[in-house]
Amino acid sequence: MKDAGQRRIHLADYRPFSHRITQVSLTFRLAPEATRVISKIAFEPNPGAEPGPFFLHGEELRLVGARIDGRDVTPEPAEGGITCAVPEGPFVWEAEVEISPATNTALEGLYMSNGMYCTQCEAEGFRKITYYPDRPDVMAPFDVRIESDLPVLLSNGNPVASGPGWAEWEDPWPKPAYLFALVAGDLVNHPDRFTTRSGRDVALNIWVRQGDLGKCAFGMDALKRAMVWDERVYGREYDLDVFNIVAVDDFNMGAMENKGLNIFNASAVLASPQTATDANFERIESIIAHEYFHNWTGNRITCRDWFQLCLKEGLTVFRDQQFSGDERSRAVQRINDVLALRARQFREDNGPLAHPVRPESFVEINNFYTATIYEKGAEVIGMLRRLVGDEGYARALDLYFTRHDGQAATIEDWLKVFEDATGRDLSQFRLWYSQAGTPRIGVEESHADGTYTLTLTQETPPTPGQPDKAPLLIPVAVGLLSPEGAEVVPTRVLELSQPRQSFTFEGLTARPVASILRGFSAPVIMQRKLSAEICAFLLAHDTDPFSKWEAGRALAKDLLVCRIAGKPASEAACFDALEALLRDDDLDPAFRALTLSLPGEDDLAQTLFDAGRTPDPIVIHAARRAFRGDIAARLGETLARLYDQMVTPGPYRPDAKDAGKRALRQAALGYLSLNDGGARATAQYRRADNMTEQLGALTCLLDIARADDALEAFRNQWRGDRLVMDKWFGLQASMAAPDATETVIGCLTEDDAFDWKNPNRFRSVLGGLAANAAGFHHPSGAGYRLLADWLIRLDPVNPQTTARMATAFETWRRYDADRQGMIREALERIAARPGLSRDTAEMVSRILGD
Ligand code: PHE
Ligand code: ZN
Repeated sequence: MKDAGQRRIHLADYRPFSHRITQVSLTFRLAPEATRVISKIAFEPNPGAEPGPFFLHGEELRLVGARIDGRDVTPEPAEGGITCAVPEGPFVWEAEVEISPATNTALEGLYMSNGMYCTQCEAEGFRKITYYPDRPDVMAPFDVRIESDLPVLLSNGNPVASGPGWAEWEDPWPKPAYLFALVAGDLVNHPDRFTTRSGRDVALNIWVRQGDLGKCAFGMDALKRAMVWDERVYGREYDLDVFNIVAVDDFNMGAMENKGLNIFNASAVLASPQTATDANFERIESIIAHEYFHNWTGNRITCRDWFQLCLKEGLTVFRDQQFSGDERSRAVQRINDVLALRARQFREDNGPLAHPVRPESFVEINNFYTATIYEKGAEVIGMLRRLVGDEGYARALDLYFTRHDGQAATIEDWLKVFEDATGRDLSQFRLWYSQAGTPRIGVEESHADGTYTLTLTQETPPTPGQPDKAPLLIPVAVGLLSPEGAEVVPTRVLELSQPRQSFTFEGLTARPVASILRGFSAPVIMQRKLSAEICAFLLAHDTDPFSKWEAGRALAKDLLVCRIAGKPASEAACFDALEALLRDDDLDPAFRALTLSLPGEDDLAQTLFDAGRTPDPIVIHAARRAFRGDIAARLGETLARLYDQMVTPGPYRPDAKDAGKRALRQAALGYLSLNDGGARATAQYRRADNMTEQLGALTCLLDIARADDALEAFRNQWRGDRLVMDKWFGLQASMAAPDATETVIGCLTEDDAFDWKNPNRFRSVLGGLAANAAGFHHPSGAGYRLLADWLIRLDPVNPQTTARMATAFETWRRYDADRQGMIREALERIAARPGLSRDTAEMVSRILGD
């Protein structure tokens, strides 16, 4: 792979830093275009490092002056920072630099958002604040003084003193610079308190702009539940006197776990019943928990280097998924997690951006905050837990926390803890961290003389830079059902370690029906051809909720694939099975809602491509829509009953029970609207007193017609609310009909409210376009051109968000020669831009595969 002249960083080149830091003191004199940062840092030689030149990172800084032990020094400029001659023993470094937060549109380092100062330092943003060894293995206690006339001045740790125009903070826990944070603004707080298990009294605050104070209660409740959960399940307590959360309008990601001062994208914390949907509430709960859980998995124990990113992210995603499963429904949580994994990680793993959970090299680390690091990273931990058992996992985690507290650790450290705690040899298992690609599992079955034999095969296709794959250790959870539908062999975890391996089950007089990969026990693709009858049987009888849902999914997918190919297939069994399930009132409404949602267009495109066909997004879109129409026609009566039955009495509550009912009701409405001309949706839109039902109704109206009046009314009602307006933009972009997409995107991007420098707004429109498969892939190529134009415009302003959005093109090799040609043109046009950011340049060249 060529790097367009860019420097590539390799895991194998890791060297410890020449020095250690015993204390960091920072003073900020805030001013929009001329903030002064004065640093005083106590260094001492690192006995574990080879002596070398003293290098500090620094970017976009104006050095005012530097001193060592009180004497002026003149550092030498070096690539990405400075070098300086230093004493042999310990010394104190002082520097004063000037930076300009007001013109920092990249939203990395210290920047301004709506008059408020805030920071984002992960991964390598601290070097835009002052000269520093900006690497996670250099950990130090920080004290911070902020000088500004703004009323609220926050940093990490505990507040120590404040007066008019200044505040001082102290963080006793050694931390890497990427966890540093500062906030200054005209903010108000939603306060609360929490007492930890051992009796520490903690002040909790969510800081927001004046008008948003009514949107904090749910986030605060989620935070307290997360704190209790981490004490109960992992024995982890909070370790400071205050925990602050700040909501920011301009933010590249969801949120950031800065020690004691989490900074959140407003969309990931603010919610009220009127402005947020059930899905928003659920996401907020999981992100609040995720960032809180980082306090131990990420902050107290951090990563040695950025190649170990999954050490904190995979584990913390795993923990937030466990939390959500415990707080809500475990089955529904698992299905949703698998849906997200397949939609994002499988897509990544089967294209040009495939990379291992622990990559071996990168050009820009910001490009590796991926579904593979996060979601596959979490799956790998789930497999580990299955292999060593719940108790083994608990022992290993206890050992991890005691052994590595206060350290910057590696994946080797992590696996060693499991080996030491359980005695298990994990040498084959560790391949999950180094080998990219999604394994394909083949299935052969036989039954004779009371013995059922299950033969499993595994094969991982080649990925960029990894042509040959070794067999992995794959936990495959299997249960067996009798032909009558009774569970005859309860779930057992088979350990598939060979390319081909047989497992036998004795004492089975009749040939059983196998339920394979229960709970989605490994992130693999099953290549098991199941007849419609067996799928319907499993859908009706499987005791494992994931596999039950999966059987229905497979059934619907097979039929959709037949329709796309214009092949006739008998669909009656599918409709009957679906109807029986919908009428089963013992089943959780949220689960039933999931069985009503068909595989998405992107999923179908990948399925066709895997089967050796060339997907046509327009054909897929039409076939899926026709299938929905037929379901609506066949099951109309049942769906109408569900719509009437699934009302939630009383005021809106965002809990899983009510949300599940609303989800089923909405799923029913989606089908019913195809037949009733939007009558129910119109009535629901008028009556709705919460955003879930209002947006749900609007979605249905938009699905069947242009719905200009409803869109206008919605806009007038919500023009003052940024987060709701993001929905207004996103809905239209993602639902525009294929032929109208170019026009719709044109209108949206010309709208006065299209503030394209705000990442949420940019994503709602251009991300909406990318999610609209048939519109994006319209044969005119207009979708590709539009996206490329906007990426070219955004790149100089915000490289991170540009590079991330360029992944819309990652599936390009699936499509026909015309589309491939047009996408290549779009990518090459981006690549040719003079001054293109390192982020986007790396991404585009990887997607192109050159
Ligand atoms: N570390 C953050 C999280 O996962 C994500 C993030 C990465 C945020 C980089 C900002 C920048 O919670
Ligand atoms: Zn995280």
